[in-house]
Amino acid sequence: MAGMNIDTLIVGAGAAGMMCAAQAASRGGGVVVIDHNANPGEKIRISGGGRCNFTNLECRPERFISNNPQFARSALSRYTQHDFVKLVERHGIAYHEKIPKRADPDGKPVPTFPGTASGQLFCDDSAKQIIQMLLDEMRRAGAQLWLEASVLDIRKVDAGFEVDVEQAGRRKTVAPRNLVIACGGKSIPKMGATGFGYRVAEQFGLKVTDTRAGLVPLVFGDDVKARLSPLAGLAAEAVVSCGKTRFEEAVLFTHRGLSGPAVLQVSSYWREREPVSVDLLPGGDADTIIAGLRQREGRRQAQVALGEVLPKRLADLVADEAGVARVNMADLSKPQLAALSRTLKQWQLWPVGTEGYRTAEVTVGGVDTGALDQKTMQARQVPGLYFIGEVVDVTGWLGGYNFQWAWSSGWVCGQSIAEQDS
Ligand code: FDA
Repeated sequence: MAGMNIDTLIVGAGAAGMMCAAQAASRGGGVVVIDHNANPGEKIRISGGGRCNFTNLECRPERFISNNPQFARSALSRYTQHDFVKLVERHGIAYHEKIPKRADPDGKPVPTFPGTASGQLFCDDSAKQIIQMLLDEMRRAGAQLWLEASVLDIRKVDAGFEVDVEQAGRRKTVAPRNLVIACGGKSIPKMGATGFGYRVAEQFGLKVTDTRAGLVPLVFGDDVKARLSPLAGLAAEAVVSCGKTRFEEAVLFTHRGLSGPAVLQVSSYWREREPVSVDLLPGGDADTIIAGLRQREGRRQAQVALGEVLPKRLADLVADEAGVARVNMADLSKPQLAALSRTLKQWQLWPVGTEGYRTAEVTVGGVDTGALDQKTMQARQVPGLYFIGEVVDVTGWLGGYNFQWAWSSGWVCGQSIAEQDS
């Protein structure tokens, strides 16, 4: 079939692809976004518990993981969180900043705590408003959207690319000058994630770094699971660290292992055969707290006394782990005191893995940034080929950073395409 007149083909109608399309089409030129799903922006729809944590006011390059931590700077500074907030406001979408709460040992929420969780912006009503906003922007700029369409084959030709596309059982060939790969990573295969973008990168000789599941619960072997199982469903404030990286947020104990924001954050840094360390007294000094308990609660057994500073089920487990259960606080020996102090402040746990792409919010790793121009996201060796969003080796923290990367990388790419035509 003869090539159709399309200037820019964007594969993936997710956050990055739709943002890019609205920009690329803004100065004319035929722009088409294709997606194999029946609806655009499926991950936006389910994000943030249906309210989409669309950006973070404290977004900065240090909060992204990449083999080249400098790469994201350019896009993040040219299209910032404040630019996206303005867009949201222009569309009249009501939003709020989530105020992180923590529970004290009695389960009462304590207003805020300074940690890494601040600055997260959510829609008041629904994530669907963000999808509608992007569709409106695309429509206004004149970009087309083809749904339930799959790419069968891509060939490089002098004028750009030839792409075989199948839609509703019909096969057509389009011949765009620019081809933008915005198809995300491997997380949540049942929502349409395929790893397709990495295959396109490899087809054109671009390096792809090792990929792994990020922002994902950690799982443990049977022995640890059995020890932790009485805590399933319990949330506690903690500092969770892995190597030098630490996050102070909630930890959630589950039947399979550990989850909750602090654990999801650390999971993006965790590597196999490494321990994670849990500090159950964030901001507190264990020795001072233990001394206080010995003074006030000396005649009580350790697990009971610890209930003053930890939820009861956690106090029981900590006393067991430290080998001090059923020993009166006043009778603890020096080694027992040291073991208790260590368990409270540096409780080491060895995950055996993560829940994997089935539940991961992101893929860590991706198309090597060394192969891309940071100002435009264009492949250095393949004019007209671009990679944006999660498919690139740039991964944000939990808290709206990944969408901001999608908006920023999509925007700079779309702008540079629009400028070709001006
Ligand atoms: P995205 O995955 O959004 O879009 C890719 C699109 O390409 C999809 O529509 C897919 O169907 C399509 N596609 C894939 N392969 C294709 C092919 N071969 N042919 C055609 N189309 C193809 N982030 C954040 O900042 N705040 C949050 O609140 C959340 N919440 C959240 C919850 C859950 C459950 C998940 C799984 C993830 C999040 N995230 C998040 C992460 C965020 O969703 C993610 O980083 C962005 O959606 C990435 O945007 P992209 O546009 O790069 O990919």
